[in-house]
Amino acid sequence: MFGIKKKQKSEKIMADENLKHIAFIMDGNGRWAKQKGMPREFGHKKGAETMKNIVRYCGSINVNCVTVYAFSTENWKRPEAEVNAIMELLGQYIDYLYTVMEKDDIQVHFLGDKGRFTPELRARLEKAEADSAKYSKILNVALNYGGRDEIVHAVNALIKQGKTEITEQDIEANLYTSHCPPPDLIVRTAGEIRTSNFLMWQGAYSELYFTDVLWPDFSEEDVDNAVKEYYKRTRRFGAVV
Ligand code: FPP
Repeated sequence: MFGIKKKQKSEKIMADENLKHIAFIMDGNGRWAKQKGMPREFGHKKGAETMKNIVRYCGSINVNCVTVYAFSTENWKRPEAEVNAIMELLGQYIDYLYTVMEKDDIQVHFLGDKGRFTPELRARLEKAEADSAKYSKILNVALNYGGRDEIVHAVNALIKQGKTEITEQDIEANLYTSHCPPPDLIVRTAGEIRTSNFLMWQGAYSELYFTDVLWPDFSEEDVDNAVKEYYKRTRRFGAVV
């Protein structure tokens, strides 16, 4: 009517045993804020809200493991004010988790080296992990996380255990993600076509999905589109299917 084409609603697809884990590289907060003439911190604030919504939505479509890349080992190089703003959002996010962990059945894990955080923040991260351990849907928040750093950490743990020869299983058992399956799908927003040191080991056979949508604008429909694309792919894991 009146020449206005109604935007087609995306199809909500429920995940099955072939889609247990989606990981998100939440990129584009800074650009989103810049487009609005606002400081980068404003983009992170909206990005944190988007993160809450997307995690909840993934649970509602039966994706029982979600990982979000919230802060990398390299992100400390950002201006102090921006790092402080993200740390403040993290504090608020921990409070928020306590309001949803029981209702949404969320078991939270913080992936990465917690040694870089203040003792107070570290204690809060560890307490949230312990307090949510009885719930079953896994939420991994990667913080001070780097894929290379994670592998070095795993190898050092194995050396400490006295191993002189190691297997892939040994490495896997000592990664920050030893409690969950590898990601079936890795989604990156904001148009960059790279994985930036995220889940390097675990992502070896992940399907990759890139979208130009900036993270603060990433919506439930965008999840539907990524899932729809995922189910079109044929996963061979190196074999002939
Ligand atoms: C990438 O966008 C985003 C980050 C490095 C931080 C992600 C953080 C959040 C989503 C909010 C914080 C939430 C918690 C719980 C800590 P960018 O800043 O690199 O964007 P740009 O490439 O457009 O500059």
